[in-house]
Amino acid sequence: MRTQVGIIGAGPAGLLLSRLLHVQGIDSVVLENRDRAYVEARIRAGILESHTVQTLRDVGVGDRLDREGLHHTGIHLQIPGERVHLDFEALCGRTVWVYGQTEVVKDLIATQLDEGPPLLFCVTDVQPHDVDTDSPRITFTDADGVAQELQCDVVVGADGFHGVSRPLVTAATGGKVWERVYPFSWLGILADAAPATDDLVYAWHPDGFALYSMRSPSVSRLYVQVDPTEKIEDWSDERIWDALDERLGLSGWSVNRGPITEKSILPMRSFVSTPMRHGRLFLAGDAAHIVPPTGAKGLNLAVADVTLLATALVRLLQEKETDLVDAYSDTALRRIWRCTHFSWWMTSMLHTVSAAQGGDDFDHQLQLSQLRRVFASEAAQRELAENYTGLPIER
Ligand code: FAD
Ligand code: DHB
Repeated sequence: MRTQVGIIGAGPAGLLLSRLLHVQGIDSVVLENRDRAYVEARIRAGILESHTVQTLRDVGVGDRLDREGLHHTGIHLQIPGERVHLDFEALCGRTVWVYGQTEVVKDLIATQLDEGPPLLFCVTDVQPHDVDTDSPRITFTDADGVAQELQCDVVVGADGFHGVSRPLVTAATGGKVWERVYPFSWLGILADAAPATDDLVYAWHPDGFALYSMRSPSVSRLYVQVDPTEKIEDWSDERIWDALDERLGLSGWSVNRGPITEKSILPMRSFVSTPMRHGRLFLAGDAAHIVPPTGAKGLNLAVADVTLLATALVRLLQEKETDLVDAYSDTALRRIWRCTHFSWWMTSMLHTVSAAQGGDDFDHQLQLSQLRRVFASEAAQRELAENYTGLPIER
């Protein structure tokens, strides 16, 4: 088998890159080690920045998003007894959409299986080779158990945090890694309950952070901060709803309860690995970086990476110019560090650290002061709004 760009991983990064290249006349093959049902059911992010929505529309996969996505023009920030609305449209002229990552992935997969290029599920033993030459290869075992080799001009590792690509780049380049593991996790639920709020609510509470989000007019998505040692089995539905009510409730207003259809605990870390390239192997999305979810940046950053990378690969493969691929890692990293800072800032402002983990009331007072500053200052609100809705993509 031969293609121009061999892409490892059918998450949002790999699938969208393949689509961006396809519409610009570049061939690719996407290799995914899970099956289609698993990839489509993986519940993850829910907020799309303006540039993400525009990119999906531009490549012809925005129709269902335009029909079913929920357009949000702001968020609520809350401390006990006080909820303040931030109007993103007025603050910075940009907005966001609520549309689950599962739906983005389903739309991209359906389009790709319909129109190409090839997308192979259930492959194993995926391994890039010769990436420091102009003829890299990927070897793998296909779904029928047959050993295969894919010859490429370029290999892209869009294989997430636990993929095979990043270790190769790090080993070959002696790359540098920055990491911060936070002393808390998110317990997330999906519930068949109409959201009791128009916009998302991000709430600081002495018991810990809580977030009210949604997927549709009849499905709520909610999160509570928990200790990383907590086990999901110890959180009955009743206990989760009680914690949400305690942290999100206001006088005369409460969370809408309903059957919980999914619940899981998600650890939180910041992680940046550089460089994002070795020879003809490029990294994109979670393969190169992780942000804590508080700023809703993970998926959007993956989209920004591949938007940049697609332009660079088209220039390399159609015009034989290396300037954009040479600049890719440094250019992408500027946005990655901006999003890493914003996600860290939102996380630090909104999550309480237990006394056992070294937190104290001094931290709480600083957090409350920072939140009150955002409540009171249009300049502080605008800074949050510009980052949350997504800064323009540098090309
Ligand atoms: P991924 O979505 O991880 O895709 C990588 C793909 O590569 C996967 O399909 C994987 O199966 C495949 N793969 C891995 N190894 C191989 C291999 N060896 N061979 C072939 N294929 C391979 N972000 C937010 O903004 N908000 C959230 O609420 C949020 N929640 C999250 C919850 C969880 C549990 C996780 C893990 C992430 C969450 N994120 C969230 C982050 C966001 O979902 C990611 O940033 C986004 O999925 C990144 O897309 P990606 O395509 O780079 O990586
Ligand atoms: C969702 C996830 C986030 O990380 C966030 O900041 C906002 C919303 C969500 O899953 O809906």
